[in-house]
Amino acid sequence: MSRIFVTGGSGRLGRSVVSGLAGAGHTVISVDRDAIPAEQLPAGAEQYTADLLARGEAERLIRETAPDAVIHLAAIAVPFSAPEDVIFSTNTRLAYAVVSAATDAGVPKIVTASSPTALGYGSPAGWLPPSFPLDERTPPKPWNAYALSKLIAEQTVQMFAAAQGDKIRYAAFRPCFVISPEEWEGALTQQGHTVRERLDDPALSAPALFNYVDARDVADFLDVLLDKMDTIPNGEVFFVGANDALATAPLAGLFPRFLPGSGPLTEHLTGTSPAFSVDKARGLLGWEPKRTWRTELTPPYAGPDTAANRAPLNDEIPAGLVPAGATKETP
Ligand SMILES: NC(=O)c1ccc[n+]([C@@H]2O[C@H](COP(=O)([O-])OP(=O)(O)OC[C@H]3O[C@@H](n4cnc5c(N)ncnc54)[C@H](O)[C@@H]3O)[C@@H](O)[C@H]2O)c1
Repeated sequence: MSRIFVTGGSGRLGRSVVSGLAGAGHTVISVDRDAIPAEQLPAGAEQYTADLLARGEAERLIRETAPDAVIHLAAIAVPFSAPEDVIFSTNTRLAYAVVSAATDAGVPKIVTASSPTALGYGSPAGWLPPSFPLDERTPPKPWNAYALSKLIAEQTVQMFAAAQGDKIRYAAFRPCFVISPEEWEGALTQQGHTVRERLDDPALSAPALFNYVDARDVADFLDVLLDKMDTIPNGEVFFVGANDALATAPLAGLFPRFLPGSGPLTEHLTGTSPAFSVDKARGLLGWEPKRTWRTELTPPYAGPDTAANRAPLNDEIPAGLVPAGATKETP
């Protein structure tokens, strides 16, 4: 059991990280500009409201709370949700302020959130990786300020690791499109639509290359990462995603429609295979994502949400749209 300082703990991902780590028996210190409503703060968690960009705030809070680990999530988390220069300066300054303050205070384990967007998919000028599935060896080619700021967050922990050697352990992780427990039940996701709408219309999930991860699986990943950080190389970066794609049809068929030129690279993405590999986290940490949309969506997915589909069904639901374990009678 450790004391874990989490920045951005009131956010979409942060709330699950705070409750997941508190549930795993850690004392969690959540720091955010916005407070978690008191009735939602889990047992084992405490919180401080602060602007971590204010000079000296990160260092003051880290020294006062004396954590064993820092997980830095606070950021502007949506590309193009603010002017590009604001996203760039906010995210890079936050990462530097928190990681340097934790380093100066001698916190032994420091982790920062990056993003798969660092790879550069979605560029209006076109983008194709050398191969699929995408993994930590795929060359990053960020094309916007958010993606660049996340790559710099990774390089920030790597810079400190290079300067400190192994007396402080650093890591970065790239969570796929995060889905929180309430979003499985119909709340709007970060992109303003529901998970069900994302499954109904592959054009909504295609910009993220059909990636996703349950927020509780990210919390589990962080718990395992903190436990194993002493035993793995310093400054590593990990993808954190689900074991399947957020799509009702194989990606081998979907990719050529949404990513020109990707057909020959993706024809092996059959069945439920995702575009992103978590083999590195699996191999180095022994972490495995436990949740999938097939088990978490409430009520379970039973085909596109069209008027025809809401009517009583006598015909077969098309093959590929039936989630594992569900029957045609599923509501
Ligand atoms: N949600 C995703 O799908 C996703 C995917 C990849 C990476 N990420 C990364 O994960 C992290 C968390 O994402 P999220 O979806 O929870 O974002 P979010 O916007 O829901 O939460 C971010 C939190 O950071 C806080 N914050 C921002 N600036 C701050 C400051 N100056 N001082 C104190 N607190 C501040 C905000 O108040 C907010 O609660 C981010 O770094 C994001 O880039 C998220």
